[in-house]
Amino acid sequence: SKTSPSPSDQEIEELLLSLPKEQGWLAGGLFLYNGCWYPSKILRNIITFQRHFQAEDHDIILASRPKSGTTWFKALIFSIVNRSRYTNYSTSPLLITNPFELVPFIEFILYDKKELPDLSSIESPRLFSTHIPYASLPVSIKGCNNTRIVYICRNPFAVVVSSWHFAARGRNSLGRSMEDFVDSFCKGIEGFGSFWDHVLGYWKESLENPSKVLFWKYEDLKEDTDSHLKRLAEFIGFPFSMEEEKEGVIEEIYKQCSLSSLKDLEVNKTGKFMPNFDKKCYCRKGEVGDWVNHLTPSMVERLEKISGENLKDLEFPS
Ligand code: A3P
Repeated sequence: SKTSPSPSDQEIEELLLSLPKEQGWLAGGLFLYNGCWYPSKILRNIITFQRHFQAEDHDIILASRPKSGTTWFKALIFSIVNRSRYTNYSTSPLLITNPFELVPFIEFILYDKKELPDLSSIESPRLFSTHIPYASLPVSIKGCNNTRIVYICRNPFAVVVSSWHFAARGRNSLGRSMEDFVDSFCKGIEGFGSFWDHVLGYWKESLENPSKVLFWKYEDLKEDTDSHLKRLAEFIGFPFSMEEEKEGVIEEIYKQCSLSSLKDLEVNKTGKFMPNFDKKCYCRKGEVGDWVNHLTPSMVERLEKISGENLKDLEFPS
């Protein structure tokens, strides 16, 4: 009989026993697989994703490290792709659906069940998102020239502060201090691995293959919205027409996807994403530079040193 791409319980148990383990801030601990730390709960999903996923032309994959603006980009990409269907905002699915459902996570949602999902029945362009590093993406995604990958990253100081708040608000932090968070962040012992490896992996690919990987910084989009959204729309194959530009469609999409709009919607305020995370934890402050209020000078110094060593040619607006 054909072996299923989804590993059996026994396979997973044996694998977990053989992998290096760290506690991290999640109750189940983190395991080093394919050079990256993953929460134990999603290891099976990741392996199934790697074995089963078949990329198709026109797929749009949003890639990010947690706390880099994933939720924001889900809303933006969905809105750009579907704008001709919902010209009237009052009918927009954004109002009644959490962005996580509009652009589902491959490793948390699609491959979370024992049965394999039927992804081929999803209407094109399929929109997906993932936190997996570039190196660990399935061969099929890397090999498909007409799959678009949009990578969003963010200043590492902001990411560490955002992660800490997220864990504390979600009561998943195992009582760890900011100091602890900075320490494991610097060591790269976090779900989805080292910040710097993650960013560099996608960045290098975007340089080598710019029509396939669009590399973006959270801060840049906030700074110069209009030209960035135009480029994003073009890159994913849904360019804005001159008419749309004149009619203010770009500004309208930006406004609808802004933190203040999303945050107040019932669908983003109540309920949970996965068993552990309150949906409201995904929309916090969304400010550039807010980290100064949370990191001590010695934490900043340590993070700066590692950033300088790892991201020589890549600077983040602070
Ligand atoms: P802060 O904790 O700094 O506020 P992710 O979606 O990858 O988990 O990232 C979460 C971060 O993005 C949080 O940052 C959150 O507030 C911010 N965010 C969520 N929705 C946003 C939006 N629509 N616009 C800007 N930032 C947003």
